[in-house]
Amino acid sequence: MCTVRVKLFGTPTVLMNNTRVLFPFRKAEALFYYLLLNGQASRDELVNLLWGELEEETAKKNLRNAIYKIKKAFDTDILVSPKKSVVMVNPAVNIETDLALFNRKGKDAVEAYQGPFLKGFLLKDGDTFEEWMLLKRTHYQERYVKILYEEIEERRRRKLPVDELALALIEVNEFDERAYRILMRYYADLGLYNKAVELHERLCRILEMELGVQPEGTTTSLHLEIMNVRSKAFKTAKTEREAFFYGRRQELAQLNELFNTCLKTRETRVVIILGEAGIGKTRLKDVFLKQLDVEFCLLEANCYQAEEEFLLKPWYPIFSKLVALIKDVGLELPELWVSSIAAFFPSQYSKLIHHFTRAPRTSGS
Ligand SMILES: Nc1ncnc2c1ncn2[C@@H]1O[C@H](COP(=O)(O)OP(=O)(O)OP(=O)(O)O)[C@@H](O)[C@H]1O
Ligand SMILES: [Mg+2]
Repeated sequence: MCTVRVKLFGTPTVLMNNTRVLFPFRKAEALFYYLLLNGQASRDELVNLLWGELEEETAKKNLRNAIYKIKKAFDTDILVSPKKSVVMVNPAVNIETDLALFNRKGKDAVEAYQGPFLKGFLLKDGDTFEEWMLLKRTHYQERYVKILYEEIEERRRRKLPVDELALALIEVNEFDERAYRILMRYYADLGLYNKAVELHERLCRILEMELGVQPEGTTTSLHLEIMNVRSKAFKTAKTEREAFFYGRRQELAQLNELFNTCLKTRETRVVIILGEAGIGKTRLKDVFLKQLDVEFCLLEANCYQAEEEFLLKPWYPIFSKLVALIKDVGLELPELWVSSIAAFFPSQYSKLIHHFTRAPRTSGS
């Protein structure tokens, strides 16, 4: 027994025992698809569908010819006429169609729908057929969209991925904001915030270019919500990164020992931490300072090779802080010191002058 397989979604193809069936002309192919969907039709209906503009006799002759050519193309009685006025698909032939799969709904329907109904199928002088085809195309597309949304709901309930289904919705209609929102939410839930934001940008671009409009309020709110969650997540990740400190126990112990000795003996020491760029020198210093259990004042400055000509530059932040400290604790400085500081760091002068009642002498320092 022969098996006929027909693909109606996307570019149509007809296979007979796995061999492509070639129709001699387009109207014969159109007739076959129409009968396949309707099961049967009256000769008058078919004549009107494909040869409505011709005289009745010629039109009926064309129909007979088309039926004959179809049977020849299949090399079997694929069409039968139990009553003279009616033409039908032979129920004895086993015909499998993607439409039958589509009608099962759910996952099968999603799989069956490979594109618009009879995609790219064009007919010269076939307005009535074309009207019918376009109506069917819209009808199936609407059903497909509905099924996709139902499937998405179902998959969401079962906590399964929905990206492919949402992308399929966007493929059908690139302005479908609801589908974009589903996909944005899906990416955001996975922590793929940048992907969600990129998708929103793509939507804005398409809407602006094609329709000259902005996204709906719901889409904009979702975008803002995702941006907020993203910035919070970035902060958490940064804090976690910063909190993480590995090893360096020996180095920390050495620094602590030196520091404690300094405290005890009051003899100051210089410690130089050496290492390649990015090895962790600054981090070691910061961790060491943070774990110190004593009150201290940190005077800090950076030296850069590019600034080696500016000898006083690294001293500036140190003196700034010192002057603030002097004011804070109400320390009295010898006059010479004040004038010296003021000479080297004129901007500190006004701060010092307010602190000390007597104006410092700035010359000869
Ligand atoms: N022990 C450690 N555990 C975890 N992260 C570390 C550690 N040491 C350094 N890091 C991280 O490695 C990076 C570079 O460290 P750091 O800035 O301290 O290097 P550096 O030697 O001071 O670099 P540069 O030579 O450029 O001044 C930083 O992000 C720092 O947080
Ligand atoms: Mg450093």
